[in-house]
Amino acid sequence: MRNTRAKTETPKPLLLANIGQLLTLRSQSGHSGPRRGRELNELGTMEGGAVLCNAGKVVSVGTTKDALRDPWVKKRRKQITEIDCSGKVVIPGFVDSHTHPVFVRPRLVDFEKRIEGATYEQIASAGGGIRSSLEGVRSATKTALQEKVLQVLRDMAAHGTTTVEAKSGYGLTLESEIKSLEAILEAAFQWPGTVVSTLLGAHVVPKEFQDCSQKYVEIVCTKMIPQAARRKLAQFVDVFCDKGAFTADETAQIFESAAKHGLKVRGHMGQLTETALTPFLRFKPASFDHMDHVSDADISRLSESDTVATLVPGANYFLGLKGYPDARRLIDAGVPVALATDYNPGTSPTISIPMAMSLACTQMKMLPAEAISAATINGAWALKMTNRKGTIEAGKDADLAVFDVKDYREIPYWYGVNRCSMTILNGVIAAAD
Ligand code: NIG
Ligand code: FE
Repeated sequence: MRNTRAKTETPKPLLLANIGQLLTLRSQSGHSGPRRGRELNELGTMEGGAVLCNAGKVVSVGTTKDALRDPWVKKRRKQITEIDCSGKVVIPGFVDSHTHPVFVRPRLVDFEKRIEGATYEQIASAGGGIRSSLEGVRSATKTALQEKVLQVLRDMAAHGTTTVEAKSGYGLTLESEIKSLEAILEAAFQWPGTVVSTLLGAHVVPKEFQDCSQKYVEIVCTKMIPQAARRKLAQFVDVFCDKGAFTADETAQIFESAAKHGLKVRGHMGQLTETALTPFLRFKPASFDHMDHVSDADISRLSESDTVATLVPGANYFLGLKGYPDARRLIDAGVPVALATDYNPGTSPTISIPMAMSLACTQMKMLPAEAISAATINGAWALKMTNRKGTIEAGKDADLAVFDVKDYREIPYWYGVNRCSMTILNGVIAAAD
């Protein structure tokens, strides 16, 4: 997929016309806050729609007939790039709110060991897992990491994603975590889409600190977080809070430090074991991610908060697990749910949101409409970016994905193929070559 314009130029006017199904994701109920329960079915669908964009923003949304009659459009017809969508489906660009793109090599030995029956924890204690990705990142140049991240962002855009949350977390020294965040920002500068960076210095306790994890937590709290905040290298701090990673106490210390330095928080929670979530709500986390194991009491508290439960079924699929997060239990209780890829070399090497949606439908019994909302507007909630992202409305960023299908339900239906034919990122076209 190629981009037709560099990020430094102001995007020219664009008109997407003759859209078969346009999913604006505009709220029908007018209720503010992340989408819950039945609200996940509100796709704001219109037939024969058109979207006018200028300078990277959506200017108007309506019928093709009205757009072509618009005096502003008529006057500038020659300057406007007109895209005939010929009955295709157009949706807001996906917001992939959980990815780990800064690594060097795939973990193929772990892959084979798992096929032969080893569990995620067994692989980690035998020297595989997250720790086996550290050496590659520590010894890589920033340029090499940046090129790797940029390629991932481009692949994601080719599958309809326009906003990406990208975590560090495979360096786990002050220097290599900062290098990872810098690589994310440099790649983001060369990509027309939007990147939100997250410091995941607390991904796992590195071997050097195996018997003194508190010392490592202090490095995260007193070195990594202050430096990332001061240099504006990250907007969020994440912690992998689970058996074999960080305890609830350590997680609270790290969240305290993030709050003190003005960074927002999110957490990997309940992937392997259940952790009580309610004590963390005082930090107003943007999201709790994975959520395979969660108590009824926490579900009830989450249904009253704006913290999003971000489900990443690609990890369950790739680990060959029988169980998936109980999306129905969460949705039916009123917890706002998002979907993300969790792109990473250990548990979810996919860049495809449509694949995550397909898994959500077939394995977690989410309806296609719920999966679309979870991967767009609720992804935007999970990044606290709903003023700019997640719906197609005048004033929001011009982030759109065109799918070569007649009905949006075909997006998760045709799994394993890419039906995205064009992506618009902040008003810049990235089209399939
Ligand atoms: O989200 N759970 C922690 N982090 C990743 C796995 C990272 C890895 O195995 O490299 C996840 O699944
Ligand atoms: Fe993750």
